[in-house]
Parts: sequence; structure tokens; C-alpha cells
Amino acid sequence: MTVPNFVAVLVLRLRMILDGIAALFYRIPAAILSAKGSGLKAKLAAASQDPRFLRLAFRALRAFLPNLRVRYKFGSAYPNNGTALVTRHDDVIEVLDRNADFEVVYEPRMRAITGGENFFLGMQDTALYQRDVSNMRLAMRRDDVAAIVEPLARRLAEKLVAEKAGRIDVPPELSLPVPTAIVTDYFGVTGAPDGDLMHWATLMFRYLFSDVRADPVLDKDALDAAAACRSVIDAAIAKRKASGERKDDVLGRCLVMQAAGLPGMDDLGIRNNLIGLVIGAIPTISKAAVQALDQLLDRPEALVSAEQAAHDGNDALFAAHVFEAFRFNPVNPFKFRRAARDTTIAAGHFRARKIPKDTMVLAANLSAMFDPLKIEAPESFRTDRPWGDYMLWGYGLHGCFGAYINAAVLPAILKPLVMKPGLRRAAGEAGQIATGGTGFPQHFVVEWE
Ligand code: HEM
Repeated sequence: MTVPNFVAVLVLRLRMILDGIAALFYRIPAAILSAKGSGLKAKLAAASQDPRFLRLAFRALRAFLPNLRVRYKFGSAYPNNGTALVTRHDDVIEVLDRNADFEVVYEPRMRAITGGENFFLGMQDTALYQRDVSNMRLAMRRDDVAAIVEPLARRLAEKLVAEKAGRIDVPPELSLPVPTAIVTDYFGVTGAPDGDLMHWATLMFRYLFSDVRADPVLDKDALDAAAACRSVIDAAIAKRKASGERKDDVLGRCLVMQAAGLPGMDDLGIRNNLIGLVIGAIPTISKAAVQALDQLLDRPEALVSAEQAAHDGNDALFAAHVFEAFRFNPVNPFKFRRAARDTTIAAGHFRARKIPKDTMVLAANLSAMFDPLKIEAPESFRTDRPWGDYMLWGYGLHGCFGAYINAAVLPAILKPLVMKPGLRRAAGEAGQIATGGTGFPQHFVVEWE
């Protein structure tokens, strides 16, 4: 290491510690005190939902306890004997790269949703995982994004925004209908009212990824939704076969693969894969679009520059604004993994941490994207970041299957809105994201001239 490099690293680390101290003793207490609610508990609960608070908490953890392990169990939805929170960029990547040591946990709930079989996000790196992912990549091709998916999303978003006179409630009127149309028109999952598909997919997503305490009411609703969704997919498969229609969509290609005798492509296999993709697509795209828009509206300069890029037809620059905004509040701030054996994270470093078998390891992607040791000027809103700085939809083996769809569809949803002159939040509560306690945006009203 050269002397200038040594000094630069020292300054960076010193600054990280000072920022950590400021976060711990001033900014975090201030954020809690200014949160809504009466009483410390209510304020803490409200603050923990705010991405600004989470980012501050991660800042302090990265500085002082980058790999925290506590005996406290991480809920009961997935068995575990304690929780580890991993916050530095390098360590988050390490956890998500070491699939044999840090396993995905979702299998039991995936099986409950499919009514028996696992879906590939619930599988370890097995032959079955590779078979199912490969099959679905043949059915859902990268070329489709530019040829089918982006135009579909763009046209529908433009139409939905054009129909409105100066005011739109984004989730029900824009960000949910677009991915739902992708599911019906491109996946081929037809036969259910759009509202039902959105509702079912959101319930199933919550059951899998956010129902940490295994709430019995939510669990029942989600499993009822899963049963309804399975019936709709079964009926869509049966109808397509009976009609002999040869539509070139995802379901149509699955049936071509079935006719060719590909393993894993019987009717049940097709249904299992499609239900997983429906869950992956609808609530995530909607939440991502709403949260990115919310962050843009918080930054008037960024909003003006995004609007300019959109008017200039500079789609890449417009998309860069959307991804950067989304970095400040991604759909999930961390990914779950469970330690498959006693192991160590960051071995050979001062921050090395022993992780006992069965610890639930939370790999904090939100924190990784703000780690000053890896990300240049992480607190600044910048549109020139290398793509590798982002961890917006997972990383590694289980990184999002729909990654290329997301990268095209999120800007397509937001562009017609951001192009509206004077785009702003509606006054009062209506202009804030309302989740109704679900964690998923239900209402968020914006207005324009
Ligand atoms: C902006 C929208 C989206 C976000 C934020 C998102 C987020 C993610 C994340 C974080 C993961 C990794 C989960 C983990 O490692 O535990 C993931 C995986 C996955 N996503 Fe997405 N997703 C989005 C859209 C989609 C879409 C549109 C689809 C379907 C076309 C989809 C299907 C999947 C599937 C199947 C996996 C599992 C991949 C595997 O196990 O190999 N997602 N997604």
C-alpha cells in the first residue's frame, strides 16, 4: 500500500467512526424523538419503518458492530436459534456468495404455497434448482424484455397516467396494474380479476418474506390466497390446452417444453413455477416504483433532473435516477439466510464473527449500498454510479430472476408521471405512502399542474 493510499484509508475509516458516533449519540435519538406516536415504544416502532432511521442505525453498526450476533430468535416463521446482522458491503456479499454455509430458508413456506413442491427460491444449489431455473429462463427470455415487456409496461403506464387529470393514487391506479398486466398478458396467468391477483400475490409475498412472527390470521389469508391462485393457474393451463391456442407467452412456451418432454414441465411443475413468478413480480414492482418515486419527491433537484432526462429522451439517465432513488429505500433492507454449520464471517479481519449453526443471518443490502468503504460518497444522490454499487434485487445465486424486467419496467412506470409538470405529493397524509400496516403501499397520491 502506498503512503497516499494508507492516508486515504485512514481518513475514510476515521470518518466512518465519527459518523457512527454522531449517528449513535445524536441523529438516532433525534430521529426516534421526532417519530410519530406517544411513548418511546411507539416512537421506536414508527422510526424503524423509516428508511432514514434504518440507514442511520446501519451507519452506527457498520462503524462499531459490523457483524452483530444476538441470541434473540428472529421470529418463528423459519426455525432459528439466534440472529446475526451483517452490515458491511464485503460481508453481505460473502454471506450471499457462500450458499453452502448460508442457506435460503423459504422451503417450508414455499411448499405450503404450492401445495406440495418447492419453488426455486426455496431450494439450495441443487440439480433441481438448476433444472427449474433453466426451464424458466427458456420460457422467460432476456430478449422479451425489450420486445414485449417494456413496451407493454410503457404503453399501459402512459395510458393510465394520461387518463388522469392532475392527480393519481399511484399503487391502485398505476404501480399495481402494470405488473399485473405483465402477469396476465406476458406470463399468461389469466382468468382471475386483476384485483384478486394483486391481493393474492401481496399476501403470499408477505407470508414468505415479512411474516417473521408467523401471524396466524395472515398465514390463513395467505394460504387461502395460494389455493385460489393455484386454481386459477390450473384453469389457465387446462383452458390453453383445451383450446389448442399456441400463444407465444411464458405459459405457451412452458407447454411447448412439456410437449417436448422436458423434465419438470408437467402441469404441476408449470404451476409451481408460475405461482413463484407471480409472487415475485406484482408486489415487488409496485413497492419499488412507489418507494423510488417517494425518494425522488424528497429531492427536488433530482426530480427536476429526472424530468429533464425524460423530456430529453435520455432513457439511461432517467433510469439511473430511478435506481439511485430506489437505493435509498429498497423493497427489503436485508435478505434472510440460515447458517448451515458453525462458521465465521469475515475470517481474518478484526471484525470476524463466529456464527453458530442455525443462526438466522440478515445480510443487509441496504447497509451494503451505503458502506463508505466500498461506495463512493454513499449519502449523495448520484446518477453516475457503476451498476455494481447496487444491490436492489438480491445478489448471487438467488439474485432476482426478474432483474432485467425490473430494470426496464420501473423506469417505464415512473416516466410518464415524472414528465408531468409540477409533480408533487398531495397535501397531508394522502401524499405519504400508506401501507395499512401491510408493509406494502396501498395509497400514495401525487398531483401535477
Ligand atoms: C423491483 C422488483 C423486484 C424486486 C425488488 C425483487 C427482489 C428480489 C430479491 C431481493 C431477490 C433475492 C431473494 C433472496 O436472495 O433471498 C429476488 C429473487 C427472485 N425474484 Fe425478484 N424482485 C423483483 C421483481 C421480480 C420479478 C418481476 C420477478 C418475476 C419475473 C421476480 C422473480 C424472482 C425470483 C423467481 C427470485 C428467486 C431467484 C432464485 O432463487 O434464483 N422478481 N427478487
